[in-house]
Amino acid sequence: MEQNAIYPDLAGRSIFITGGGSGIGAALTRAFAAQGSKVAFVDIAREESEALAESIAAEGARHKPLFLFCDLRDIEALRDSVRRAAEAHGDITVLLNNAAHDERHAVERVTVEYWDDRIAVNMRPVFFAAQAVIPMMQRAGGGSIINFGSVSWKLRQGGMPAYTMAKASMQGLTRGLARDFGKQNIRVNTLVPGWVMTERQLKLWVTPEAEREIDAGQALAGRVRPQHIADMALFLASGASSMCSAQEFVVDGGWT
Ligand SMILES: NC(=O)c1ccc[n+]([C@@H]2O[C@H](COP(=O)([O-])OP(=O)(O)OC[C@H]3O[C@@H](n4cnc5c(N)ncnc54)[C@H](O)[C@@H]3O)[C@@H](O)[C@H]2O)c1
Repeated sequence: MEQNAIYPDLAGRSIFITGGGSGIGAALTRAFAAQGSKVAFVDIAREESEALAESIAAEGARHKPLFLFCDLRDIEALRDSVRRAAEAHGDITVLLNNAAHDERHAVERVTVEYWDDRIAVNMRPVFFAAQAVIPMMQRAGGGSIINFGSVSWKLRQGGMPAYTMAKASMQGLTRGLARDFGKQNIRVNTLVPGWVMTERQLKLWVTPEAEREIDAGQALAGRVRPQHIADMALFLASGASSMCSAQEFVVDGGWT
């Protein structure tokens, strides 16, 4: 994997990634493992996640990533995963709240049950993961929490209101937690991806028409790839960003 920067302070650190088994999350898992971090990640995609951990180990990572199966809709299971990750790797000092699911849904078809389910996937675990790791960060003398937002709502993308609402809410959580825990050296930021060319996006949505939309929208040529998001995540996790908190960091090729 291409490595643009090495952050010595990330080596050996205990990192927790949600949805780290595929898409952008897999790039995060790879990128932190390449820094020598001790990565634990949760996901529901069992086969993909196990294969990812194996391949990273086979490529010679210092620490094989620890995959923990967990459906984030189950908060007790999330808490248990955080506990197990810390038992294996020590107090977690970097949390990447990456997991989400951008399933489309028409307004008129949304039921209360469906709405609650989307929030249970895209919003609720972000707070409870932070709640679970904050005492560890306090003990360790600091930490970095990175919540994943989205340009979708900024670009007025329709067709998935529960998702866009959940993604917009990341800023509010980020800024509130940044104030509550900033004096304890816990930094909280929102990483806002543009349209990122994951396998899933390429398969489902990146049509020739969408390609033209990206070219017209982005200031930069080329495509945003998972690695570009991982590069920003490494920076926000490391001491290189030690006075950055309560902010949003947008990696969208200059679209918004
Ligand atoms: N790809 C993009 O273009 C894009 C754009 C803007 C924002 N984002 C944000 O970036 C983050 C990652 O996006 P992505 O495109 O890689 O998503 P993805 O859907 O490709 O991957 C998400 C990962 O989370 C896992 N996951 C889903 N539901 C889960 C659950 N209930 N419990 C545990 N794990 C679960 C999936 O198995 C998968 O590995 C998300 O927060 C997303 O909102 C992505």
